[in-house]
Amino acid sequence: MATTTAQGLEVLFTRDQIAERVRQMGEQISNDLAGEKLVMIGVLKGAAPFLADLSRSVTVDATFDFVAVKSYAKGSQTSSGAVKLIKDLDEPIEGKNVLVVEDILDTGLTLAFLRKLFLQHRPKSLRIAALLDKPSRRVEQIDADYVGFSIPNLFVIGYGMDFSERYRNLPDICLMPPDAV
Ligand code: XMP
Ligand code: MG
Repeated sequence: MATTTAQGLEVLFTRDQIAERVRQMGEQISNDLAGEKLVMIGVLKGAAPFLADLSRSVTVDATFDFVAVKSYAKGSQTSSGAVKLIKDLDEPIEGKNVLVVEDILDTGLTLAFLRKLFLQHRPKSLRIAALLDKPSRRVEQIDADYVGFSIPNLFVIGYGMDFSERYRNLPDICLMPPDAV
C-alpha cells in the first residue's frame, strides 16, 4: 500500500529514502572531486533543500552560489519553452569546478540553457546534479552527471518542489493530486 502524508498526499520518496540517496550522491561527488574545490550552484527555488543536504554530504571544500530562472508560467505544469535568467551568479566561476544543483531535470531546457551560459565563463569543470530525472520528457539532449532518482512522467511536489509555490516545505517527495487547485 502506498504511504500517504497527514494531508493525504501519496508519497513517492520518503525523507529517509531521500536522505540515503543524497548521502550516496555526496560520496560519489566527493570521490570524483577529491582534493579539489567546488562551487555548488543551486537553481532557485526548488533546489534549495537539495543543495542544503547535498552540500553537507560532500567532504570537499565547497562554496555556494545561486541563480534563478523562469521557465514555467505560474500554476502551469507544462514548460513554455523559454528560459530567462532572473538572478545571475554573485561570484565569477572562471577556472573553478562547478556543480549545478537542480531539483528536477524534465525537458532539459533549463539545464541546457544554464550549461551553455556557465560554459561561456570557462569553468575548470562543469557537472550537474539533479535529484530527480524524467528522461521521457526530454526535449534538449542533456544528462545529469549525478541523478538521485529517475521517475516516469509524474508531477511531483515537496522537498523544494512546488505547485503554484505551495508544498515546497514537505519533507517527502509526493505525487501531485490530479484534483489539486
Ligand atoms: P525543464 O523542463 O527545463 O524543467 O528541465 C526543469 C524545471 O521544471 C520544473 N519541474 C517541476 N516542478 N514538479 C515541480 O514542482 C515537477 O514534477 C516538475 N517537473 C519539472 C522544476 O522547476 C525544474 O527545475
Ligand atoms: Mg526548479
